[in-house]
Amino acid sequence: MQLISDPAEMRQWSRTQRAAGHTIGLVPTMGFLHEGHLRLIDNARTKADLVVVSVFVNPTQFGPGEDYSTYPRDLERDRELIRDRGGQCVFAPETADMYGSDPVVMVRAGRLADHLCGPHRAGHFDGVLTIVAKLFNVVEPDVAVFGRKDAQQARIIARMVEDLDFPTEVAVAPTVRERDLVAMSSRNTYLTPDERTAARAIPRSLAQAHSLFLEGKTDSASLTASIRSVLGEEPLVDIEYVEAVDPDSLSPVTTADSDTIVALAVRLGKARLIDNIILGAGVEADEVVG
Ligand code: PAJ
Repeated sequence: MQLISDPAEMRQWSRTQRAAGHTIGLVPTMGFLHEGHLRLIDNARTKADLVVVSVFVNPTQFGPGEDYSTYPRDLERDRELIRDRGGQCVFAPETADMYGSDPVVMVRAGRLADHLCGPHRAGHFDGVLTIVAKLFNVVEPDVAVFGRKDAQQARIIARMVEDLDFPTEVAVAPTVRERDLVAMSSRNTYLTPDERTAARAIPRSLAQAHSLFLEGKTDSASLTASIRSVLGEEPLVDIEYVEAVDPDSLSPVTTADSDTIVALAVRLGKARLIDNIILGAGVEADEVVG
């Protein structure tokens, strides 16, 4: 397995592989990999001959006061996990390799960042789009795989590819959950044991909204209120937002249907956690480890 840090060398590797007739799948990550990331590698392997995993904690998607400096990092471990999972190349650039000394131009998410996480993380999605555009330009993948756990991110990236004519296919893979249905996240490492137990309220609240929808409740206000009330039973959980949005426009809907995305963000101790379901599919449609 290759470990590459230089973007020019990365592009050369990709071009050489493509010239030899291989297709390339890219799995962009910020490292500290867990089973959720590793299943994206499995998914990419079904779509491309060779899989590149990028590991880069991207400074431009973190706001002031967010966890950029404390974000967990362990490249050695990530490298072993990627190799064992069948990846052919790890692209792990330094910040200076990716951004140089004075980057100015960025890709903007526009109105797709008006709801959900957007208002709570000013500039976050512009940072995500900018690094993903750069990774696409460096790796030149045929396909790139993202997780539905970050549903807004996946949608905004798919729209960037459409609007800016990137020659890359975007695939979205199911959310991977722990046995107690808490979504896997690198940020779960911030949780104390009590906070980790309290986090179960998140999938429980989403499952309740799914049940109410199956019983015929379709007004978004009642569905989001039921989520707030389940989360409200957990004193450690501080709600940031709960919203029901259209899966394409990411705008709030008043009447939900089976494609509606119901998404939330909470603060739990030092962690900010997000989760979502496709309303008609529910938590049950996601993957559970173990
Ligand atoms: P990161 O949080 O490391 O996530 C990398 C990829 O793994 C994303 O596509 C994310 O949706 C997916 N992922 C994380 N947890 C998951 C889970 N429990 N189930 C399924 N997929 C999961 O997202 C980022 O990094 C960055 O914003 C990035 C796209 C790399 C740009 O910097």
